[in-house]
Amino acid sequence: MQEKYIDETKQGEAFAIAEKPENSKKLFLESYGCQMNFSDSEIVASILNEQGYNTTMNLEEADLILLNTCSIRERAEQTVRMRLSQFKNLKKENPSLTVGVLGCMAERLKTKFLEEEHLVDLVVGPDAYRDLPNLLKETEDGRDAINVILSKEETYADINPVRLGGNGVTAFVTITRGCDNMCTFCVVPFTRGRERSRDPHSIIEECKALAENNYKEITLLGQNVDSYLWYGGGAKKDFDKASEMQKATAVNFAQLLEMVAKAVPGMRIRFSTSNPHEMTEEVFRVIAKYDNVCNYVHLPVQSGSDRILQKMNRQHTRQEYLDLIKKAKEIVPDIAFSQDMIAGFCGETEEDHQLTLDLMRQVEYDYGYMFAYSERPGTPAHKKMEDDVPADVKQRRLAEIIALQGELSRKRMQSYVGKTYEVLIEGISKKNKNQWKARTSQNAVVVFDIIEGQNIGDFVTVFVNDCTQGTLLGKTV
Ligand code: SAH
Ligand code: F3S
Repeated sequence: MQEKYIDETKQGEAFAIAEKPENSKKLFLESYGCQMNFSDSEIVASILNEQGYNTTMNLEEADLILLNTCSIRERAEQTVRMRLSQFKNLKKENPSLTVGVLGCMAERLKTKFLEEEHLVDLVVGPDAYRDLPNLLKETEDGRDAINVILSKEETYADINPVRLGGNGVTAFVTITRGCDNMCTFCVVPFTRGRERSRDPHSIIEECKALAENNYKEITLLGQNVDSYLWYGGGAKKDFDKASEMQKATAVNFAQLLEMVAKAVPGMRIRFSTSNPHEMTEEVFRVIAKYDNVCNYVHLPVQSGSDRILQKMNRQHTRQEYLDLIKKAKEIVPDIAFSQDMIAGFCGETEEDHQLTLDLMRQVEYDYGYMFAYSERPGTPAHKKMEDDVPADVKQRRLAEIIALQGELSRKRMQSYVGKTYEVLIEGISKKNKNQWKARTSQNAVVVFDIIEGQNIGDFVTVFVNDCTQGTLLGKTV
């Protein structure tokens, strides 16, 4: 399966890369939720690396345990609470152990976390990681410490992330933080604050440094990448107040994508997440123009019904979405799309649900990330709407959406059979040690027999001769 969201029911990956040999303290850092959290953890590791901490995968030897948490659905929060409860014994055995929570749950629950989870000593929101050294001093003195202040400026642009536990080939580069969209179901605008863009020069520098370190693929990250707008710093909402000069020299997402494509021509470039109402034709033209910009867009739609899209405060109609997909396919004929869908949002009828299934059939997505609606405290939907679709109906609709996506994925994978693709080798296949796992530009996973002389990080040409629902089977040509 694809790895955009790390399933919150699974334990987050622990990382282990020794950063500074002289460091003596040990940090156990575990991330949950979206790619942005994984990217943020690399910033956190970098900040703490300067404070004497190297990461460890071994809980028993940790001086500091940090969980980078997710609030997107209720289950994501339950998983973190369960994980925390597993640390009780460790804390008994080692009273000087510090346990901290970072990320969206820290921001959402604030001091409640310290009140409800007694073993937690440290609560730090997504914009406050620079304050970690000070906060840790407080915990060393035996006090609980908290900083959940959100910022309009913070982009951590100058912090060089420590690359954690990856494959050494693909990396995330954050380009925007926060979200101004206020989709009524979503907690992100409350936990990650105002949208702001990062200085393009620091983005290019980070991409070049990755290229120099033999990375081969970059994913530009943001809640809403198409909304990227650099005018010298500050919140996107304050763009109106910028000077004429700042406005004239502003950089938008299509321009940034082109700058990155040119700066690292030997690297593949992906981006996530796109929001349909901010996605422009210009972006598709950049995808078409540059071979190294991948022919794949994750374009969440959430529902195929105009009535529901409006209740969700998504800023486009079903037809506008379909027109955008049509235009994209004209500009980039072999483009692939994936979706996010929510089943059973407030007031969703059987007819609305059928419209979702119908839209999926029209678009023919390669993949999907599908969820039952989970009411989040404090969101506009929670305040103003009733979560009135019964749980069993939500689950049944979700199952239908997942089953249909399965059919569509199979169909899309079959359309790649009999063709030749350039693929990037990411590692060894989990199922067969004698095979590589690689990816096409369209983000499809291909497995094929290892041939001597091939290495992780190589681009190779592969003929696809068969497929399963989610994987292509091929051979080197
Ligand atoms: N910025 C992205 C989405 C971030 S959240 C965008 O533009 O869409 C990732 C996905 O989680 C969303 O696309 C949505 O499908 C899902 N999601 C968000 N809030 C949810 C909720 N309250 N219940 C169920 N799924 C939710
Ligand atoms: Fe959430 Fe909508 Fe932003 S889904 S992250 S409020 S684009």
